[in-house]
This record gives sequence, structure tokens and C-alpha cells, in this order.
Amino acid sequence: MPLYRGGLIGLTGIGANPAPADPSRPLAGPMPVSHAGAYALLPNIELVGVCDLRLEALDRFRAVWGAEWPELRYCTDYRELLGLGLDFLSVCTSDHAHAQIVVDGCAAGLKGIFCEKPIATTTADADRMVAAAAAAGIPLQIDHTRRWWPVYQLARDRLRAGEIGELKAIQASRCHPRAMLFRNGTHLIDSVVFFADSDPDWVFADLEDGFEDYVEYGGDGGRDPSREPGVQGYIRFRNGVRAFVNSHKQAMSPYTIELLGTGGRITVVDPAGLEVFAEGRTTVHPVPTWTRTGISAALDELIRCAEGTRPELTSPGSEACRTLRIILGFLRSQAEGNRRVAV
Ligand SMILES: NC(=O)c1ccc[n+]([C@@H]2O[C@H](COP(=O)([O-])OP(=O)(O)OC[C@H]3O[C@@H](n4cnc5c(N)ncnc54)[C@H](O)[C@@H]3O)[C@@H](O)[C@H]2O)c1
Repeated sequence: MPLYRGGLIGLTGIGANPAPADPSRPLAGPMPVSHAGAYALLPNIELVGVCDLRLEALDRFRAVWGAEWPELRYCTDYRELLGLGLDFLSVCTSDHAHAQIVVDGCAAGLKGIFCEKPIATTTADADRMVAAAAAAGIPLQIDHTRRWWPVYQLARDRLRAGEIGELKAIQASRCHPRAMLFRNGTHLIDSVVFFADSDPDWVFADLEDGFEDYVEYGGDGGRDPSREPGVQGYIRFRNGVRAFVNSHKQAMSPYTIELLGTGGRITVVDPAGLEVFAEGRTTVHPVPTWTRTGISAALDELIRCAEGTRPELTSPGSEACRTLRIILGFLRSQAEGNRRVAV
């Protein structure tokens, strides 16, 4: 019998997509592609209610998942959902519609909250989310999904083991028609934060042509790439690590992270490969197979943290705030003539 009661708000693809048909696809085996898929996979939790403002989203959810949870409550007001005595909550609403739900969730007696990335679109919102979770004494996990992909964990283990000496610089590249600053850029920038392991100090940036006057988030949650710019940005971290982020909508390159150390280089070619160049030679490392990756690993970890059987989250709200501060710093730099700004 499941121990815990879960709720889910926001029923588009990331919240509600069914498991992929072909489980032999790389990264598609035990990795569900949605929060609903993660709840279905974990044996110790079940969904008891879902919520969306749109009735058609609720209908679609019922059609896809109704057989899995026949007793499910369907709500259009998230406050009704929060009244169902939930233990854990997933927040999959639009980028700018996370904050109030998380704050209200913290006051609803939950054991933990799993919120989609980016944590928010303003620091005021992000700060009140983190403060509300701290005041309630519950873990707040943000779905910067790559943090639970084996190749990222392997790369960080090798880095921390000193295989390339001291980390000095990071190059992060994702060039694609959907390489927008908030929508997909948040993953790229969060990868940098994950490896830099320090507070960002200052940044400067140059946004995509045509976005010279783009000073605050103007996206529509990521549906339309023409509403959000790509970016070339530089980040200086307090521990001395320097990073360059290259996210260009008109160029093409795979999602690549290079970690440059005093004794070598680790190259992460997302999602499948890891190369370590050290002592004059390159070694290709196989990526370990995990039983859980991505969203289900993140939810599993959140539950364990709430139980006290895992000491810390891989993607706590405080880390996601670092990522958001960098994104917002890029916007301020652009607004101030591409100059260096403190974040
Ligand atoms: N981790 C990932 O790889 C990944 C992938 C896709 C999307 N996302 C994130 O997931 C979130 C959702 O993305 P999207 O593109 O589906 O957004 P969207 O704006 O298209 O859809 C959000 C859904 O939430 C519902 N909603 C909004 N406010 C609500 C409220 N107050 N109460 C109930 N329902 C509400 C909307 O009706 C809609 O169905 C975003 O933050 C996005 O960045 C993450």
C-alpha cells in the first residue's frame, strides 16, 4: 500500500505525459517523462488529486491516467487540492505561476514540494518560496532534471575526486531553435551552477539580436521561442570559477559542458557520454545505469529527505535561486549596455 498522498498542479506534458511507448530507448526506460509518470513508478506514493485551470487538461489527464488512479479528485482550484490532506505536491504550472502555489502549499501541512524549473521569474518570488519552505521546515526540490542524470553525477564525482585538478573554468553550450534564456537556458545555466558549486558573484551578457530592450521575463512559459532570447553570458563565481554560457537559437550544437581544471578537462556530451582528458590522454567513461533517473529520482529523493533517510536534496530551492540570479543578472547587464553587474 502506498504510504504517501501526492497532488499535482499543472497538467500539460511535463506534468501529465504518459510513459514513452518504447522503454528500450536511451534514457526512456525507467525514466518517466512527467511527474504523473514518476508518481506511477514509485511504490510508496500515489496521486490522490490533480488540478488545472483548464477543464480540457483535466479531461485529458483522466483519459491517460484514470485507470491508474480511479479514485483521483479533479480540481480547478488548487486550494481545494491542498485541502485533501496531501503529503507531497508537484507544481507544474507556467514559469511565472509557481510562487503563490508553493507558498500556500508550505502552509498546508505538506511533507515536501517538488516544483518545476525555473524556480520563478523574479527573485522576490523565489525568495518567498524558499523562505516559506524553510519556515515550514519542509524540503523544496526544483526540477532541474539533469542533476539526476547519471552522466552529470558521474562528471561531478570525477571532478570532486580531483581527476582534473582544481576546477578553473566551465564552457556550457546549447545551440538550438529552442535555446531560450528561461525555458531551456535555465537547464544550461543550472548545469554550470551544479559544477561550479559556489555562489555567483557577477555576470555580463549579450542577448540575441532583436532583444536589445528585453529587460524582464516576457515569455509565455516557453511555448513560443520568438518571445525569449538566446544569450552569450559570462559568470564569475565567488570561488574563482569562471563560466561562459553559449545559447544561440540560430546556431546548432549539442548540449555540451566542458569542465576545465588545472590538470585536464571533463567533457559532458549530454546525455550519453563523458570524456576525461588528463595526463595527456583521453578516457571515455561508460555512463552508469540507474534504476531511477530524472523526475522519478528527484521525487524519490524528496520523499527520502522528508523522511530523514537522505541528508540533502540534489536541487534545493537555494541552488535554483543561484541559477535565477544569473539569468536575471544577464537581463540587467543587457539593460545596462552589457556591463558587468553584481548578482
Ligand atoms: N524539467 C523540464 O525539462 C521541463 C520541461 C517542460 C516544461 N517545464 C516547466 O514546467 C512548467 C510548465 O510548463 P508548460 O510549458 O507546460 O507551461 P504552460 O504554461 O504551457 O502550462 C501550464 C499548465 O498549468 C496550468 N495552470 C497555470 N496556472 C495554474 C493555476 N494557478 N492553477 C492550476 N493550473 C494552472 C495551465 O492551465 C496549463 O495547463 C514550466 O515551469 C516549464 O518551464 C520543465
